[in-house]
Amino acid sequence: MMPERRAPDTAERPSPVGQTAPPADDAMLKSARRVRRNVEEERQARLAFLGTLAAGLAHEIRSPLEAIKLNAELLSEDIGCVHEGHRKEFENRLERVKREAEQLKKTLDEFLAFARPPKIEVFPTDINAYLRELIEFAEPEFRAAHINVVTDFADGLYPVAIDQAQMGQAVMNILANAREAIREHGEVRVATRETEKHVEIRIRDNGGGVKPELEEKIFEVFFTTRERGTGLGLGIARRVVEEHEGALILENRPGVGAEFIIQIPKGRYLEYSDAAAGAEKAK
Ligand SMILES: Nc1ncnc2c1ncn2[C@@H]1O[C@H](COP(=O)(O)OP(=O)(O)OP(=O)(O)O)[C@@H](O)[C@H]1O
Ligand SMILES: [Mg+2]
Repeated sequence: MMPERRAPDTAERPSPVGQTAPPADDAMLKSARRVRRNVEEERQARLAFLGTLAAGLAHEIRSPLEAIKLNAELLSEDIGCVHEGHRKEFENRLERVKREAEQLKKTLDEFLAFARPPKIEVFPTDINAYLRELIEFAEPEFRAAHINVVTDFADGLYPVAIDQAQMGQAVMNILANAREAIREHGEVRVATRETEKHVEIRIRDNGGGVKPELEEKIFEVFFTTRERGTGLGLGIARRVVEEHEGALILENRPGVGAEFIIQIPKGRYLEYSDAAAGAEKAK
């Protein structure tokens, strides 16, 4: 170990009761602190660099993965060419390749969404119409699992400003969790309402809820209870909502179901209109 690193610990250690500590050498202390700060800065820089490398690597893996998926699909179409005796086995193996490639792609997409530096571009949005579109997109997977998606939208919502792509990912992650919690046969309710300061999106399921001791843990990155989960869904959702200066809250009913509430502040719309008005004036 480098002696400089040990110096501040020795100097700052409280003296045993009844003894007077020798006067600390001020210059030495300062230089030791500087070394410690440099070590910390270097660690941060290295971490940031690793993050960039990892994101780059994830990008590189995406294209060959797409090719694997596409070729597996093409092979499935030609399954008739395979000798009948081997066809079933062949088909199973191809399905496995497709499934694994799909899972890997999902993990990469989530990782990339997490590693990407946050930058949101907000626009005033009719939240009800926006949610209707998202639900329509997600519907087939819910229908396949016999899950009803019902809506309960408040009229005349304030047009809060959101980054539609990023908020869409947050909503989709929460919807996917609701579907996965229910597994089959159940109901997801998507509601909107307005409070004094926020517009709220509430997504409620009857999938049994979260164990009370896990209520905070589920928002941690890489925390998952699912065999095939990565544990990024809620981490991403919370970060996106917080970038909007909003909050993502869990209202949990253990044994019954979970409700996730996205609160979007109305203030951002004013910022947006001020900026737009400023740009108009400048013309
Ligand atoms: N609606 C829900 N009902 C019950 N438990 C939930 C619900 N949503 C999330 N959880 C719990 O929170 C954990 C973390 O969720 P998160 O979306 O972050 O990761 P994941 O779904 O496990 O994996 P993925 O990265 O694929 O989304 C889940 O594994 C699950 O235990
Ligand atoms: Mg998830």
